[in-house]
Amino acid sequence: MSSVPTDLFPHPIVQAPMAGGVAVPQLAAAVSEAGGLGFLAAGYKTADGMYQEIKQLRGLTARPFGVNLFLPQPETADPAAVGVYADQLAGEASWYETEPGDPDSGRDDGYDAKLAVLLDNPVPVVSFHFGVPAREVLESLRRAGTYTMVNATTAEEARAVERAGADAVIAQGVEAGGHQGTHRDIPEADGAGVGLLSLVAQVHESVGIPVVAAGGIMRGGQIAAVLAAGAAAAQLGTAFVAAHESGAHALHKQALTSPLYVRTELTRAFSGRPARALANRFLREHGPYAPAAYPDVHHLTAPLRKAAAKAGDAQGMALWAGQGHRMARELPAGQLVEVLAAELAAARTALSAGGAR
Ligand SMILES: Cc1cc2nc3c(=O)[nH]c(=O)nc-3n(C[C@H](O)[C@H](O)[C@H](O)COP(=O)(O)O)c2cc1C
Repeated sequence: MSSVPTDLFPHPIVQAPMAGGVAVPQLAAAVSEAGGLGFLAAGYKTADGMYQEIKQLRGLTARPFGVNLFLPQPETADPAAVGVYADQLAGEASWYETEPGDPDSGRDDGYDAKLAVLLDNPVPVVSFHFGVPAREVLESLRRAGTYTMVNATTAEEARAVERAGADAVIAQGVEAGGHQGTHRDIPEADGAGVGLLSLVAQVHESVGIPVVAAGGIMRGGQIAAVLAAGAAAAQLGTAFVAAHESGAHALHKQALTSPLYVRTELTRAFSGRPARALANRFLREHGPYAPAAYPDVHHLTAPLRKAAAKAGDAQGMALWAGQGHRMARELPAGQLVEVLAAELAAARTALSAGGAR
């Protein structure tokens, strides 16, 4: 089986890049120091903001780490629907005493500028969300000594990732917290998400490059399961949201295990693209009619979500979480990596003992 380079990270545990201030340098450093692969999230940041975080992280650890980029997004099919949604959010704006954001605040997330920084100052790993980078981009990163990974949510998308020349593919199951990394947002495909164990097996049989499994993984035993299904490593997001060093809002961390939140849902309510969050008031009220318009809706709701957080109202925030959220453990991130690695080792021993019987 092809594998991810274990000199990069001895434990097959990747801390998911998490935009919105969660995957801060302190979190990534703690994970990488413990032998996992820490990640920075460049999404929604400027190229300079990303560069400053990389510098900060390099000051905290000499271990390898990754940086995640968002692909530029196509024009929204129905801009008028964004205007209608803005009207529907008027009550939120007056409740939180703020103005909705400008939906036309850009759709390329500073991609070219960020790539230029990463080619000038190469980092060990770069991963991509929301599409497949051009072959030349992946080649230039490889020439710079960077290992590349690209998200995929189906076997077809995984084959596109391999064809483009990426070093590894991240198979993201429908259980995953945050945005689904589908390459093209097709509303007709809503509800067609594939569960992780099924996806990993399909992707493993479809491509020759290493597979990193993401979605709903909270315990080492689940990591053992995806490795047995053909993955080379596991990427965990929600598990690290709860870590001490995570930059997530305290209310977000608490909500993961609060009895107030009994389920998650894939919703367009906050950003216009399907993303999994704890079902709170905002999601329940606006999810049913939120348009397919990313990142327009992200820009539109950003000040509302910020104001809700400032007011200490978790019912108006985007509480991104995967289906395993209730199993979150509030630990220092390094300790979490160690616990996961110990659980993984125990599960592997149990699996091989079972196999010998
Ligand atoms: C709070 C949060 C933010 C996320 N932001 C990003 C991101 O910026 N880039 C990315 O590639 N994936 C992002 N994801 C998705 C993760 O990469 C990963 O697929 C997911 O966390 C796996 O599912 P889990 O949360 O159940 O572990 C995010 C996930 C969460 C929970």
